[in-house]
Amino acid sequence: MMLRWLLPLLLVVLQQPGASSQGGNDLKDIGTLYNLGVGIHDITGPVAGVNMMGYANPAQIAGGIHIRLFSRAFIMDDGINRLVFVSADLGMMGQLIKIEVIERLEKLYGDQYSYSNVILSGIHTHSGPAGFLQYLLFDITSFGFLRDSYDAIVEGIVQSIIRAHDSVVPGYLYLTHGELTDASINRSPSAYLNNPEDERARYEYDTDKTMTLLKMVAEDGSDMGVINWFAVHPTSMNNTNTLISGDNKGYASQLFEGTMNPGTVPGQGKFVAAFAQANCGDVSPNTKGPVCQNTGEPCDILTSTCDGKVHFCYASGPGDNMEESTHIIGTKQFDKAFELYNTQSLVPVSGPVQFIGQQVDMSNYTVNLADGSQNRTCTAALGFSFAAGTTDGPGAFDFTQGMTESNPFWNAIVNFIIETDPDQIICHDPKPILLDTGNYNIPYAWHPKIVEAQLGRVGQLLITAVPGEFTTMSGRRMREQLASVLTDEGIEPIVPVIAGLSNIYTQYITTFEEYAIQRYEGASTLYGPHTLTAYMQIFSDLAVAMARGESVDAGPPPPNMLDEQWDLLPGVMFDGTPLGYSFGDVIAQPYPFAYTGETVFAKFVSGHPRNDPQLGGSFLTVEKLLDDGTWKLIATDSNWNTKFAWERMSTILGTSVATVSWTIPDDTPEGTYRITHSGHFKTLIRGISSYSGVTEEFKVATMGSNTVPPQNREDITNLEEATGFLNWMRHLFGLQ
Ligand SMILES: *[C@@H]1O[C@H](CO)[C@@H](O)[C@H](O)[C@H]1NC(C)=O
Ligand SMILES: *[C@@H]1O[C@H](CO)[C@@H](O)[C@H](O)[C@H]1NC(C)=O
Ligand SMILES: *[C@@H]1O[C@H](CO)[C@@H](O)[C@H](O)[C@H]1NC(C)=O
Repeated sequence: MMLRWLLPLLLVVLQQPGASSQGGNDLKDIGTLYNLGVGIHDITGPVAGVNMMGYANPAQIAGGIHIRLFSRAFIMDDGINRLVFVSADLGMMGQLIKIEVIERLEKLYGDQYSYSNVILSGIHTHSGPAGFLQYLLFDITSFGFLRDSYDAIVEGIVQSIIRAHDSVVPGYLYLTHGELTDASINRSPSAYLNNPEDERARYEYDTDKTMTLLKMVAEDGSDMGVINWFAVHPTSMNNTNTLISGDNKGYASQLFEGTMNPGTVPGQGKFVAAFAQANCGDVSPNTKGPVCQNTGEPCDILTSTCDGKVHFCYASGPGDNMEESTHIIGTKQFDKAFELYNTQSLVPVSGPVQFIGQQVDMSNYTVNLADGSQNRTCTAALGFSFAAGTTDGPGAFDFTQGMTESNPFWNAIVNFIIETDPDQIICHDPKPILLDTGNYNIPYAWHPKIVEAQLGRVGQLLITAVPGEFTTMSGRRMREQLASVLTDEGIEPIVPVIAGLSNIYTQYITTFEEYAIQRYEGASTLYGPHTLTAYMQIFSDLAVAMARGESVDAGPPPPNMLDEQWDLLPGVMFDGTPLGYSFGDVIAQPYPFAYTGETVFAKFVSGHPRNDPQLGGSFLTVEKLLDDGTWKLIATDSNWNTKFAWERMSTILGTSVATVSWTIPDDTPEGTYRITHSGHFKTLIRGISSYSGVTEEFKVATMGSNTVPPQNREDITNLEEATGFLNWMRHLFGLQ
């Protein structure tokens, strides 16, 4: 079934004479000539010894990198107005990040960039470093705010925007959309089913399967970049993962960029591809669905439990392990986006660039309900089912989803902190309040009150920058309402997209009906049952003002609580080496001969990665020997085929080992290769210094080729275990 908001777009496709021809060349004449810029920069902060953001699992501590995290910036300018859209490989965007990014841009460029024309959106990976949000609740499992995590993100986002700014050239934009049906499932179907039947009947699926895609081409015909919005949680990597990763969306971006920038390592090419987040609130990538992992039986549908407990009920798939699932869901998104990018049904974008934004106090916003009565939003609070977690990552306690009754034991503990305000209990009904977070201010605010709402328009495209995770139906209602409001203002066709987790994080936004079921998403809808209705009102008012060219009140300024932040996580004390070794020494050489498809390992005496995140750099390289005797860079720590794993061997001696692995891609040319590792170590006297190490050379031959190994060899993938190397290391480094 066609969504109503897509119909205008389809009509345009049918009407455009150029629309059926191949490529951008003859289409460009009917689109507006914009000024366009794209930029990408690394935002990977501390990669070891810190909690990861997303599952709120204190045991999930980072210990290396699978792929790096990037900020991708896009500038669209009609000669009068300029809009910046940034999609960053983060769990979510943070208010403090936006405050500092705008401050820095103002220093560089004056009033060219501001709150209202810069949209910052997070993809929602659950495998990045935590500790970058200023409200206390979000930093509990990371033991507080982590300055190095925050600094890397701010610096990387600003650098990506600078690159976009410096790359601006005249160009054309094209819009299209398509369906990706087998990359997502609804993880709270019982809540979805509480939406009105006639509303549900208008949609074929219980999650949005539509990918909306914006293509950017320079006037000279060269490809510049692409943004697509598709709703799915980047939770293919589960809460046992310890390697930094952009998950399925970060990987999809690397696939697209790798294809368009052949011969480059991730983050270095000109073409930039963002796989931005949409209304992913109730959308899981774990398409095998939830199962009781202990028995193989289905979980209880209403509570997502097995024998009354959440621990064993979780979802996985479509692969046999999380890395394979990430690969599959990432590849599906890439394949669809690449197909759409090259499709014939691209619609040229034409019309003005506009934007509008406002800060709103969500703790008491008056909403006008359909029956003519009024109600209000509430000061933030979390329900009991929040603590149950989801089937993408169950919670640690005995809470289940679908709880509309409270638990006296927890009430007692929570009341010990501060008694729940009786008005709050009424306001949030039927949510039983576990944590009255909006009223907790010790040592500083636990949850936001001032929330940003923002819209950006480029011709037909309307980017709805929402401050959290809208569920499927919440997103549909918002898009539909905005399309209808703008149509009334004479702006059509309009293609609204939800840019999820933008500007500030306020967790979930369900519909009023889904809220009543109090699954995890409803329990995490912070401002009460009327949260969505309030946002629809706020964004509609903004849309009308934008259409009419009217300005709105900026609203109360967002608080900057940087100076109040607590950090209780100890930093790196010092690093040491075993007697007779230096930092960077290779303690396990790669096997001297390997076939493509095999994995080679190297181990190095290492320093703590938190000494320096090597922003924009890499902890490892794979290099190929050229005929002239120089070494060519083949891969970094951001390539899918490499892994950088770091482990402290002894806290007392400060010793650690970095393990680099490289799974040799099938198309790797035969030849001589080597692996390097670089990092920083810290001593009490000299502070932080850099080091690097390099392995011996090794030969790579194509699997199945006539090249025979120089000696008898085992399957080298198992070499690590075969040599008993790790045991030896543990002895050498002592105390483990
Ligand atoms: C995470 O994925 C791994 C497979 O990669 C699996 O063994 C494990 O049970 C999963 N855990 C959770 C909590 O999903
Ligand atoms: C909410 O705002 C209204 C005015 O809009 C005011 O009358 C009311 O007292 C406020 N309620 C709270 C709990 O702050
Ligand atoms: C406002 O909404 C709450 C929660 O749904 C409800 O309990 C209350 O009765 C409503 N108040 C009014 C005046 O409608």
